[in-house]
Amino acid sequence: MIELAPSILSADFARLGEQVRAACEGGASVIHVDIMDGHFVPNLTVGPPVVKSLRKVTKLPLDCHFMIENPDDFIPAFAESGADWISVHQEACRHLNRSLNLIKSHECQAGVVINPATPVDTISEVLDIVDYVLVMSVNPGFGAQRFIPAVLHKIRQLAHIRSQRGLNYKIEVDGGVALDTVADVVRAGAEILVAGNAVFGAGDPKRNVEGLLKAATEAAMVRV
Ligand code: DX5
Ligand code: ZN
Repeated sequence: MIELAPSILSADFARLGEQVRAACEGGASVIHVDIMDGHFVPNLTVGPPVVKSLRKVTKLPLDCHFMIENPDDFIPAFAESGADWISVHQEACRHLNRSLNLIKSHECQAGVVINPATPVDTISEVLDIVDYVLVMSVNPGFGAQRFIPAVLHKIRQLAHIRSQRGLNYKIEVDGGVALDTVADVVRAGAEILVAGNAVFGAGDPKRNVEGLLKAATEAAMVRV
């Protein structure tokens, strides 16, 4: 099943509840929340209070994508605020296994993220403990960047490893997912699609989600 996870990074923060509700009506099944600290990435976003407020407007899983240094320091606060999924970057974790187990100890789904320049091999040893792998298809920090097609082979590689090793992590893709790129991403093997600008950048978020899910589902039908 293909799931769409709108990223609130491109939403109007003054109308966040309303925009999230519209995306849900269009068929979104996960809400992606980008957490940036101005150190790991050159931008700042939101912290636990926003997650706590979002928790009141939707029952959908809140997928917190940490783009921060020292992620272990913030996992408990986000979990207590209502995060359901927490992902940490391989590049930001000195003790990746420990960070992932810390997420799981808070009863959240644990994800590992790799930047466009980071090979799949670097997360080989944690693939058996993660619930999902997030493949960045832009360099993290900003919305509305161009999709980097060179990451597609990593999605295929992760799908191959999953079946070879009998694992069941989900594959999520983040960055530049839009009507013109969604089919390639789905055909490569991704099942959770993050989209910020394509949902909240222009037009009606509900319609945008519907359009993306339609294109994704059609692509999944011809997936080999
Ligand atoms: C990028 C963020 C993404 C971003 C995606 O650093 O992790 O989640 O919101 O936005 P689009 O879909 O606009 O590339
Ligand atoms: Zn993200």
